[in-house]
Amino acid sequence: MHRSKIAGIGMYVPKNVVTNYDLLKYMDTSDEWIQERTGVKERRYADRTGETTTTMGVEAAKVAIERAGITLQDIDFIIFATICPDYYFPGCGVLLQRAMKMKEIGALDVRNQCSGFLYALSVGDQFIKTGMYKNILVVGSEKHSFGLDFSTRGRNISVIFGDGAGAVVLQPTDPSTSLPAGQAAPDQGILSTHLHSDGVSAEILAMYNPGTHANHWKEEKLADFDEAEIGEMFMSHAMIDKAQLFPNMDGPAVFKKAVEKFPEVIIEALNANGLKTSDIKLLIPHQANLRIAQFVQHKLKLRDDQVYNNIQKFGNTTAASIPIALCEAWELGKIKEGDLICLAAFGSGFTWASALLRW
Ligand code: ACO
Repeated sequence: MHRSKIAGIGMYVPKNVVTNYDLLKYMDTSDEWIQERTGVKERRYADRTGETTTTMGVEAAKVAIERAGITLQDIDFIIFATICPDYYFPGCGVLLQRAMKMKEIGALDVRNQCSGFLYALSVGDQFIKTGMYKNILVVGSEKHSFGLDFSTRGRNISVIFGDGAGAVVLQPTDPSTSLPAGQAAPDQGILSTHLHSDGVSAEILAMYNPGTHANHWKEEKLADFDEAEIGEMFMSHAMIDKAQLFPNMDGPAVFKKAVEKFPEVIIEALNANGLKTSDIKLLIPHQANLRIAQFVQHKLKLRDDQVYNNIQKFGNTTAASIPIALCEAWELGKIKEGDLICLAAFGSGFTWASALLRW
């Protein structure tokens, strides 16, 4: 079996910088509250009509492909992770395939929220390991600014999120398959990935509508419907009138579970490879909230230089946050060949995941 490695990485964030002060125009909040509770100082918002989740993914992908030293035509599979798809269906994977004029290759969309990129990476890793594909494009991209509640009612969520995209190209490390001899170190690449879920708390961090749930899962009503004999349950006028088309989050409940599962899944990855926290050169946690990342760092007794955070500048970009942070850290020279990198995520579902890789 081959091992897979990240052969190229890219990121794209929109030009439009939105500071905490800018949000005061729309809701009752303060820079102090947002920074103290989340760490976010500013985030980027995509152009309202000129940019989509897919177009941002395309920009990140172009950079990743170029850095991998391959052409568009070499990509043999696309995995696109997002919770902000351009269309309800089809997914962003096919829109990216079309926009980039790629061959008629497979395109898979992953909907695993904050863990989406790591789930996508893990799926790509399996395809590389079996030898099925040789150049997989893995993208995480989100255009949150389109669907958030920017009134005071939605402030606990809307201040946290930002738009952006990250992408990687996965290739086999085995030099005999695609790389010039001697280019890959023997233990280079993805050492292992670890995926988990627990749907008991699915509604704690969720966007219920539009959807087909028909108030089936909870005693409390998650949607109102119009007086119709047939249809009009997926999306109704009542849902719009009652502001039911926005994400929901029980912040303290998410915090509690996140600080339990992040360290657990990191330790699981280290144990699986006979490694210790002191072996980690850089931990890149999903940029959920700076307070969560700091709690995890403290719990694992990691030094400041072992953890990379950039939520301060970009907010929480869900499936894009890990590849954006990984790309930025790499561009800043914080990641060198041979370094042990740990990626970890926790989010809606709940789902959580980790990946250990030797750069
Ligand atoms: N500005 C000012 N006040 C606010 C804001 C805001 N943006 N948002 C909420 N408040 C107010 C609330 O109305 C409430 O006021 P009240 O006491 O008068 O009722 C007060 O602040 C406290 O509200 P809580 O929701 O209890 O706020 P909390 O202190 O828990 O902080 C936060 C909210 C930051 C979301 C916190 O719960 C948290 O860190 N949760 C972790 C979840 C998280 O970070 N999710 C990120 C996305 S999910 C993911 O990526 C995994």
